[in-house]
Amino acid sequence: MAVLSVRKYGDPALRRRAAPVAAVTSELRKVIADMVDTMYDELGLGLAAPQIGVPLRLVVVADEEGRAARALINPVITEQGGEITAEEGCLSLPGIFAPVKRAEWVRLEAQDPDGKAVALTARGLRARVFQHEMDHLDGVLFIDRLDPVTRDRIKRRIKKDGFAEDAASHRAFAL
Ligand code: NI
Repeated sequence: MAVLSVRKYGDPALRRRAAPVAAVTSELRKVIADMVDTMYDELGLGLAAPQIGVPLRLVVVADEEGRAARALINPVITEQGGEITAEEGCLSLPGIFAPVKRAEWVRLEAQDPDGKAVALTARGLRARVFQHEMDHLDGVLFIDRLDPVTRDRIKRRIKKDGFAEDAASHRAFAL
């Protein structure tokens, strides 16, 4: 197991549409273990495979205390409802936070690391984490979901200042 470096905004790996996982192999289980290590090390609540440069439909998510990681393979949102706006961050955009509108609850289907089908329903912060991580699988970042004025302001700030060296102050909310 290993802590990997998280790809940052500007890396083309974050903009590709990830391919479905064809089979759960020992190699895939190693990727999952590395993603969990990396997510814990970064104090994130979730991490998507493209963020470590692996173009597969695979995410890991933690509980709201940042523990109890679980992996979801080929996740698909089957139902969603409600609407809620809350501040969001991303390990690929350190130190950047902005309010994002998301569904309040989601129902999703996926496979677990044993290849078994799982269905689950999430609300609140956990539902937000799922939606954020699944966006990563389609090459979408949370800043894409902001109004154009806010998005341009953030892009200019990144261009001018880059990312903060130590963006730890808010890290617990980064996905
Ligand atoms: Ni993210």
